[in-house]
Amino acid sequence: MKTLMGLAGLTMAGFMLLSCNTEVKEANYQIIPLPQEISVMDQAAPFILSNGTKIMYPEGNEKMQRNAEFLASYIKDLTGKSLAVQAGTDGKGIILQLGGNAKNPEGYQLEVTSDQVVISGPTEAGVFYGIQTLRKSIPVAQGVDIALPAVEINDYPRFSYRGAHLDVSRHFFPVDSVKRFIDMLALHNMNRFHWHLTDDQGWRIEIKGLPELTEVGSKRTETVIGHNSGKYDGKPYGGFFTQEEAKEIVAYAAERHITVIPEIDLPGHMQAALTAYPNLGCTGGPYEVWKIWGVSEDVLCAGNDETLKFIDDVLGEIIQIFPSEYIHVGGDECPKVRWTKCPKCQDRIKALGIKADKNHTAEEKLQSFIINHAEKFLNDHGRQIIGWDEILEGGLAPNATVMSWRGEGGGIEAAKQKHDVIMSPNTYLYFDYYQSKDVEQEPEAIGGYLPLERVYSYEPMPASLTPEEQKYIKGVQANLWTEYIPTFSQVEYMELPRMAALADIQWTNPEHKDYQDFLQRLV
Ligand code: ACM
Ligand code: ZN
Repeated sequence: MKTLMGLAGLTMAGFMLLSCNTEVKEANYQIIPLPQEISVMDQAAPFILSNGTKIMYPEGNEKMQRNAEFLASYIKDLTGKSLAVQAGTDGKGIILQLGGNAKNPEGYQLEVTSDQVVISGPTEAGVFYGIQTLRKSIPVAQGVDIALPAVEINDYPRFSYRGAHLDVSRHFFPVDSVKRFIDMLALHNMNRFHWHLTDDQGWRIEIKGLPELTEVGSKRTETVIGHNSGKYDGKPYGGFFTQEEAKEIVAYAAERHITVIPEIDLPGHMQAALTAYPNLGCTGGPYEVWKIWGVSEDVLCAGNDETLKFIDDVLGEIIQIFPSEYIHVGGDECPKVRWTKCPKCQDRIKALGIKADKNHTAEEKLQSFIINHAEKFLNDHGRQIIGWDEILEGGLAPNATVMSWRGEGGGIEAAKQKHDVIMSPNTYLYFDYYQSKDVEQEPEAIGGYLPLERVYSYEPMPASLTPEEQKYIKGVQANLWTEYIPTFSQVEYMELPRMAALADIQWTNPEHKDYQDFLQRLV
């Protein structure tokens, strides 16, 4: 990186350029994530952003118009200035345009001269990231003009998948909160929102053909207090997203160049669904939407053909709501105790000719049968699956992407098997873990200890992989499980500023890594 130096003199230059006495504050390009290459032109005059500055976009391009409106709204929030947005590509002002030098589809170039701020990229998404960089460079300051030092920034992301996950089952967060979460992703240049919609403690997405999933499965009678203390709060708890609301969130994210990846966690973590449809469980129930935390032993019966139809029916509606190429089908933490005793599950094992071997039990292979079924349904409809690393255990479905959560081992193994990988190890990127050792001062959390510095230290590319195998590491994600996170303000508390450390890991090449520098930029 060419470093950003010699800014001190520019403030004076900014003052001198102004004919009136408006105070000038200076922008600072040392932001998060750190751009790959910043070249400040020390001797050149800055661009002065004032009330009269215009934002221009290419005529007829609605996405670029939206980008321009986003930039205007960010500048309004930061400075109180209402800048005009208009079609056009020349003249003085801030110009958004397609094209330029960036090779990466999400890359961009930001060039500042005394007359113009030009953000160009090969796609509207690239331009959007240039806008995020400009936005973060501008200080929060009302009633002043902003001097943008002359600069050329050439930037692009290290990883193509840059995600954050939110569990809305254990606690439910309404549409406005989910939108705010998406805003947080946009601020950090992320492009995937992994939405964990179903679990033992609540089913949170409307499925029109299976109405009991939300009528029954979205409500629990009460919630355990603390860490399965045996005491309950006595308060009914519930909530779900209608398909219209989910589509509204998909559209909101898409405008911000973020893809929503829904997760339907199967065949485990299904107790809320079993409560609604007890025929889908091995014992037939009765079940109740879970009031405690942990891993339920009651899971979908893998021997029941109705289970296969249920999976198809749910996924059939999910793909109508979510245009994402990737659909997450879970696969984590599915105990096999019911399956070992269930006549239907054991009959299925016989009928499929499944045999245990030294690597896998018959029941683990039965789980792979279920995941393969979900994959085939989705592949037949033009989609792909992502699953948690347990999907390795009975043999991977042919086209599956593996999300490595139990450390990095699952991701390393999947890459060796030539499968795409998203790294989200609980050893670095579980933001539901404590961020301070001062546990008395912290809101109660699930456990663990992942302070900011530890998160920042994460290097997603395993050194044990060959360069060829490393190509399968497609991205990085942090996860937020919400057993102990009842409010959205606590979601923000747990995410921030760890999300900033994640953003640097996802975006910026590792040769720029420097924790002290990161802390400076964090301010
Ligand atoms: C997980 O944390 N159970 C994926
Ligand atoms: Zn069964």
